[in-house]
Amino acid sequence: MAKLLGIDIGTSGCKVLLIDEKGTVLKQASAEYPISVPKPGWTEQNPDDWWAGVESCLAEIDEKSPDAIGVTGQMHGSVFLDAQGKVIRPALLWNDQRTVAECEQIETTIGSERLKELTCNPALTGFQLPKLLWLRNNEPQNFQQVRQVLLPKDYIRFKLTGDYGAEVSDASGTGIFDVKNRKWSQPVAEALGISLGLFPKVYESDEVTGHTTLHDHLNAGIPVVGGGGDQAAAAVGTGAVEPGIISVSLGTSGVVFTSLPGNEHDPSGAAHTFCHANRGWHAMGVMLSCGGALRWYRDTLGGGRSYDEISASAATAVPGSGMTFLPYLTGERCPNIDPAARASFAGFGLETTRSDFDRAVFEGLSFGLLGAFNLLRGLGASAAEIRVTSGGSKSDFWVQMLADCFGAPCVRLEVDEGPAMGAAILAGVGIGVWPNVQSACKEVVKVVDKILPTGTDYSVAFGRYTVLYPAVKHWNHTA
Ligand code: XUL
Repeated sequence: MAKLLGIDIGTSGCKVLLIDEKGTVLKQASAEYPISVPKPGWTEQNPDDWWAGVESCLAEIDEKSPDAIGVTGQMHGSVFLDAQGKVIRPALLWNDQRTVAECEQIETTIGSERLKELTCNPALTGFQLPKLLWLRNNEPQNFQQVRQVLLPKDYIRFKLTGDYGAEVSDASGTGIFDVKNRKWSQPVAEALGISLGLFPKVYESDEVTGHTTLHDHLNAGIPVVGGGGDQAAAAVGTGAVEPGIISVSLGTSGVVFTSLPGNEHDPSGAAHTFCHANRGWHAMGVMLSCGGALRWYRDTLGGGRSYDEISASAATAVPGSGMTFLPYLTGERCPNIDPAARASFAGFGLETTRSDFDRAVFEGLSFGLLGAFNLLRGLGASAAEIRVTSGGSKSDFWVQMLADCFGAPCVRLEVDEGPAMGAAILAGVGIGVWPNVQSACKEVVKVVDKILPTGTDYSVAFGRYTVLYPAVKHWNHTA
């Protein structure tokens, strides 16, 4: 029976999963690495920390000859390499907001509507292309040395195989990719004076892109497949590979994701339209601080309590009782595109308890996801059920709140590490274990429980949440 390895380069750490072709997890390992915030709104990581994390996971997994490997990870980041394949400076991450001026440069040079025609999406601060322009505008001596720009998981592909490669789902989030035609965009590159030679060859997510060289914990010659951006891979890991199944990922970011029947993009640009890892397309709404906001709350205001203690306390407060939390700790992308957005607590008084604050945090995160869900619904997405994955899906309390907010059953899966599972599934499709992604998902993705809405009504509280953002927007932009 084939053994398939999935490697996920997350924001707080990496995860490696070894599965068999029934989808059973044989082994798993994880390792953490730091994130640096050199200035407010900037986020960076050292790509070699990712690789050190992968190596320590591979040592723990102790399987030198898996049949194939798939890679996935945080999207949009920029790894700048010189002619020798050395990292030039720390990578700028998906939630880094320093590129407001470069996004304006892209939009004014190309024109907003033309850009959406060419790439299906607007220029967003998190995307990779504005990061490359930022380097050219601000660190010209570093820019001069750049010979390759890679996405985070593609740096791991390079370390595994020695090959530069990208795949369509993650390339879609660079801002220089022709999503409809699944290739780099020559018109965008030309308009901005960027050479497409800086970008690697692009593959489909289930194609073999190369083979491993010899490593301490891996033999040479193992096929490595394209894999996917973490959201497309998570959708594969949860079986969200056909329209009608929506997946929600509760990681550092929060994402609501739907497969699309075609490749029409959201005219507002608030929902991303990207290539899916199943050779089709998908739309998703991304909130930048979801589990990340919860982690911040635990670490700064949590009073030393664990996530379980905070959610047990939140469960004792009255639902939608009057306090509101806007989770914009790193700006926001969907449904409000606003790099300068800041977080807020509103509506508390002498009667307010710590449990009310705890509950407001979970409600604010759920309302952010509901905003993204409503956007996708407006684009025609329907959901008989929502498949919930990533760290936050372990919380019964939170998943119940989501079922109530969405008014739809929320389903959890046997393996809640969606992206790593999806990468392993793509690895299997790449070597012919399954004929395609859809049939692989039917065989290996297993539902373990279904949480039904209880009828708790959050509509008034959600109304308060949606009017708070415009009210504090002015303050956010001038503070
Ligand atoms: C997706 C996005 C995040 C990152 C980190 O567009 O920005 O989900 O991929 O997980």
